[in-house]
Amino acid sequence: MEIIYASNYEDMSRKAAIAIAQQVIKKPTSVMGFATGSTPLRTYEILIEFHRQGIVDFSSINTFNLDEYVGLPSNHPQSYSFFMFKNLFRQIQLDPSRIHIPSGTASDLLQECAVYEEAIQSLGGIDFQLLGLGPNGHIGFNEPGTHLNSVTHVVSLSQETIKANSRFFSSLEEVPKRAITMGIKSIMNTRKIILLVSGEKKAEIVHRTLSGPINEEVPASVLQLHPNTTVIIDQSIL
Ligand code: F6R
Repeated sequence: MEIIYASNYEDMSRKAAIAIAQQVIKKPTSVMGFATGSTPLRTYEILIEFHRQGIVDFSSINTFNLDEYVGLPSNHPQSYSFFMFKNLFRQIQLDPSRIHIPSGTASDLLQECAVYEEAIQSLGGIDFQLLGLGPNGHIGFNEPGTHLNSVTHVVSLSQETIKANSRFFSSLEEVPKRAITMGIKSIMNTRKIILLVSGEKKAEIVHRTLSGPINEEVPASVLQLHPNTTVIIDQSIL
């Protein structure tokens, strides 16, 4: 793993946006994996600036998102689909046919997972995956204990994650209890990974991610085994 210490959130975000821009300029048809959450928000704003300035043309990329809440339709303000269209896709004018996000309202969730995994394969796999780090070491919604061999699947969210994500909902009860997520194996199969680390309560978990034992207790620790991962850490949180 390559580890880059950024001086603050802005610096981390700019470094990530530049890496994404370089990927898309080098390969305009890149298959990009995106994350939601607070961490990549500024990165997405900078990508929108690059688009408006004509620095990067995103029109030929395909995208896959890591995860989606079960039970929230795509027009629900807290769905990850809504988040992505609002904070990135609509603003870079990406054709919706190029956007892939698991449907949390599919009638057959297991089939939805299988179809999602097949869609990733049919586009040749993900070239570049952006990740955030959960306070409990999760990546995507792969909570502690998730099998390292997992592909896209339905998960029950941990109490810790439900509590952490309740900041976006009006009450704890409103937070969905399940989600669809790309699995650890799906993430490990991506060709290039950038893990962004910023936000409260991440100092200990980032240490365990980078230098702790590789095991299911800290799902992100498996990234130590990925051949092409860069971790960009906002060092102001350390
Ligand atoms: C989001 C995702 C999650 C987040 C993680 C960190 O699609 O997959 O793993 O990246 O929960 O969230 P923030 O950035 O809000 O601290």
